Amino acid sequence: MQKSSNVVWHEASLTKQLRREQNGHQSFVIWFTGLSGSGKSTVANAVAKRLFDNGIKNYVLDGDNVRHGLNKDLGFSEDHRKENIRRIGEVSKLFVDGGQVVLTAFISPFAADRELVRNLLEEDEFVEVYIKCPIEECEKRDPKGLYVKARKGIILDFTGIDSPYEEPVNPELTIETNTYSLEESVEQIIAYLKKRKFIS
Ligand code: PPS
Repeated sequence: MQKSSNVVWHEASLTKQLRREQNGHQSFVIWFTGLSGSGKSTVANAVAKRLFDNGIKNYVLDGDNVRHGLNKDLGFSEDHRKENIRRIGEVSKLFVDGGQVVLTAFISPFAADRELVRNLLEEDEFVEVYIKCPIEECEKRDPKGLYVKARKGIILDFTGIDSPYEEPVNPELTIETNTYSLEESVEQIIAYLKKRKFIS
């Protein structure tokens, strides 16, 4: 891959702060991580709707969708997952710079990759939300029939089956989708964002 050694960073006159002021809210990343079928996308989209209804500009970046476009050259090897998350981290940073809230719904199974994204951003720009659900329940839900295929060996390197998932050790929030309803899960996240003054 070619390195961008002759590229010079261009400082924009419209700063992140100006954009935030015009939008009337902070810009930051809500990083959802969890097993396939745990409910990441469902919860992320429901939180996005709540934010939208409250006039907060936001966008959801979702694993399946991003893998259809920006990251369609990537598969599920460890290196490709790492590159997947790296790119999403950089895209998220651009959204934050643009004054928006970005909600990401990727398995993001490796702690080091999630940490890398955290370190790309300021301390008050990253909220890691662990969407926790026992694999037995995810497998029971199996909304896309992928666990069945993974068990049969039709899909290889499937997270939780023959590819690891490293649980977050110290996430800002853990949401147990096996215990709480979607509405309750959204409430927990909104309450946290208010408490930490990410939103008012
Ligand atoms: S990762 O690990 O963060 O790079 O994965 P992500 O970009 O979130 O993509 C996960 C979605 O891809 C589908 N899928 C797989 N997931 C895990 N392992 C394997 N091998 C695999 N193959 C396809 C699956 O639909 C995931 O979506 P979710 O929404 O998580 O169920």
